[in-house]
Amino acid sequence: MILVVGGTGFVGRHLAQHLVAQVEQVRVLARRPRSAIPPQAEFVPGDVTKPESLAPAMAGVSVIYHLATIPKEKGGETFAAVNVDGVRNTIAAAQSAGIKRFIYMSVIGAMPDPRFPYLYSKWQAEEEVKKSGLEWSILKASIIFGPGDEFVRKSALTVKNVLEASFLPLDAPPSIWTRLLAWGKFIPLVPIPGSGQAKFQPIWVEDVAHCLYLLKNEKFVSQSVSVGGPEHVTYNQLVDLSQEALGLRRVKLPIPPFILGPLAGAMLALGLNFPVTKEQVALLAKDDTTDLDAVQRNFGFTPVALQEKIGYLREGI
Ligand SMILES: NC(=O)c1ccc[n+]([C@@H]2O[C@H](COP(=O)([O-])OP(=O)(O)OC[C@H]3O[C@@H](n4cnc5c(N)ncnc54)[C@H](OP(=O)(O)O)[C@@H]3O)[C@@H](O)[C@H]2O)c1
Repeated sequence: MILVVGGTGFVGRHLAQHLVAQVEQVRVLARRPRSAIPPQAEFVPGDVTKPESLAPAMAGVSVIYHLATIPKEKGGETFAAVNVDGVRNTIAAAQSAGIKRFIYMSVIGAMPDPRFPYLYSKWQAEEEVKKSGLEWSILKASIIFGPGDEFVRKSALTVKNVLEASFLPLDAPPSIWTRLLAWGKFIPLVPIPGSGQAKFQPIWVEDVAHCLYLLKNEKFVSQSVSVGGPEHVTYNQLVDLSQEALGLRRVKLPIPPFILGPLAGAMLALGLNFPVTKEQVALLAKDDTTDLDAVQRNFGFTPVALQEKIGYLREGI
């Protein structure tokens, strides 16, 4: 039995589907069930911040994938509680249940710098995993794209309707606000954070699921592997690809980080939705890449390019 902690999220549900397709027995743990779980997988409710809730999911498990993470802090849900202590709690539950294999999903940018609280929490979690005494592996990815992603769909929404992108979350249900902001689609502008020259290495979510699946091979024990797609793409290029996919032409409006950062901070402090946090604004100025042949070299297959799959944006952003 394979346990996917955070298996209802964007990456987790693709991983669960991939594992089921490989005829693995799969159990998914998250706080709430979601319809995205494959029918062949079992759902067990649990909260990584509540150690006592984890034990029921551990019975009969041989491999744990830990993907439960929050990208933004909200109320009592802090990076320290969910991203760091949550990993410690899952490790402790694995140890109590005698489970040895532990695979952790992280980000390329994880770093020991508290000025970047999200990346710092991912780095702290990696350190916990490495010193756990378990047979660990870590997969560190650049931005991941595919149906249900946050990053690429959010940047595409800024192309489609800058007002909706600025004030509503992705997949907002119809409301007075969606009706009021609908006219934003006539605004022919798309904001670009900073110079738009920072590079990413978008990787297709199904390729990430396949890398995670292969990572359980024992040759990856005690290994941390970074992956990205087959090309480096700047934010400007990402916006161009979105414009092409959506059949729209917008004028790019660069917003300097010294305006965008405080604006993001103020919007979020007021409890309003905003596409990026202050930390994410700073990160949009940094490259998030690894070697172009990372997937081929480590896992023996070629990942698909963003351009080949960008059509998924037409099916829903
Ligand atoms: N998306 C990307 O572009 C990207 C890029 C690189 C690396 N990653 C890494 O990939 C992993 C998965 O990311 P994602 O984009 O799939 O995130 P996501 O869509 O936000 O999913 C997060 C998952 O964690 C669960 N979760 C959150 N808090 C929890 C808690 N307290 N207890 C139990 N489960 C909890 C969520 O379900 P509930 O809320 O229902 O509990 C959900 O299943 C993360 O480690 C992330 O750092 C993602």
